Amino acid sequence: MAKVISTSLSPNTEKDDVFFAIISLLKFWKWQKGLGSTKLEDYFRLHFGFENCYSFNSGRSCLLAIFDAINLSEGDEVIVQAYTCNAVINPILKRRATPVYVDIKSDLNIDAQKIEQKITEKTKVVIAQHTFGLPCDLDRIKEICSRKNIILIEDCAHALGAKYDGKYCGTFGDFAFFSFGRDKVVSSVYGGMLIVNNNSYIKRIIDFKANILYPTKKWIVQQILHPIITNLFVLPFYNSKIGKGIMAYSLNSGLLSRSVMESENHGILPNYFPQKMPNALAEIALFQVQKLERFNVWRKGVADFYAIELDEYKNLFCFNSIDSRKDPIFMRFPLIVNNSKQLIENFRRQEIYLNDGWRESVIVPSKTDIKAMQYKEGQCLIAEVNCDKIVSLPTHIRLRSDDMKRIVSIVIDHLKRNG
Ligand SMILES: Cc1ncc(COP(=O)(O)O)c(C=O)c1O
Repeated sequence: MAKVISTSLSPNTEKDDVFFAIISLLKFWKWQKGLGSTKLEDYFRLHFGFENCYSFNSGRSCLLAIFDAINLSEGDEVIVQAYTCNAVINPILKRRATPVYVDIKSDLNIDAQKIEQKITEKTKVVIAQHTFGLPCDLDRIKEICSRKNIILIEDCAHALGAKYDGKYCGTFGDFAFFSFGRDKVVSSVYGGMLIVNNNSYIKRIIDFKANILYPTKKWIVQQILHPIITNLFVLPFYNSKIGKGIMAYSLNSGLLSRSVMESENHGILPNYFPQKMPNALAEIALFQVQKLERFNVWRKGVADFYAIELDEYKNLFCFNSIDSRKDPIFMRFPLIVNNSKQLIENFRRQEIYLNDGWRESVIVPSKTDIKAMQYKEGQCLIAEVNCDKIVSLPTHIRLRSDDMKRIVSIVIDHLKRNG
């Protein structure tokens, strides 16, 4: 496998995943329908103990299913944290509901103390995001939602396998969802799993799912090709112009998909949300999720390494002094540093690509039109300051110990120069 390090280019893909994708590509008669999604749902039920699991083609589709089930409508307010992805906001806008932004704490999760100030009689939902795999303050948030009769959705897009009070994230809200996006904890390029903990909504979700389509074969092929093209033709040549050129061509020609379409930066979801989870991607996700334990043990080990090696600078860690009830999985290891652009550039010069999109805007990716997201500048100052300073170190399975050492020495060198 290629030696380039990148947090966004297929970080979880191993040799056997590429082989698995090639086989999936050949089994064209099983791209859309098959037993894959049922098997994936069963795995989530048996392995994590989530009783009611429904697969979709993305976290975005899971959110659209939830909003249909709860009848989210114009005028309803949805509390979300700043420092989130437009993939969370666009489904809210699609229902003509209003996102209400709450600032974060230094751990990049919602500041539970600030939620109550934002609750009005129109508040229908709180979305609790476990950013980069660190559980948010679930006790406090759940208590507020129960007391105020507000629906709680856990956004577990980054948190598959993370625990709070000994229980998996995803068991606390009325709903929760996971994402199998290309840079997530496990990946099938696109995919999502919706968990319904409040039984009164199950029928609505089942009906919703029955009435949506499978993605087109063209769309499915775009996703299956992603690990193949990225690992065989892009990453091995990424340091020269060839790899980058192949990637740009593949994206521009539509051979591969983008994780977020340009229209989404302006508040408009493409028409392939909501759709069902196609069989081929469900099988790829199932193949990956069976590696979860190994991936997450590795991630925690990498995080421990960074924490020890950078101990002198621990005031810069976002995940500092973690509450003992929280068992994070460290999808990444975020730091808050001065002159962060320079650090990203220093990494790039050493073929370490850490611009993961989660930077430079309170609603990422950075090209997002925050006005279209109904965010007003100055609303959430901690998010605004931190998003410009964040550099998230990689923790994925393909890192080797010499990579980790190199990463630490680049960080230390930068910190010595920039204070
Ligand atoms: C925090 C967060 N929530 C939700 C989503 C949406 O998930 P998906 O990409 O599977 O639609 C993403 C990723 O895009 C995310 O990072």
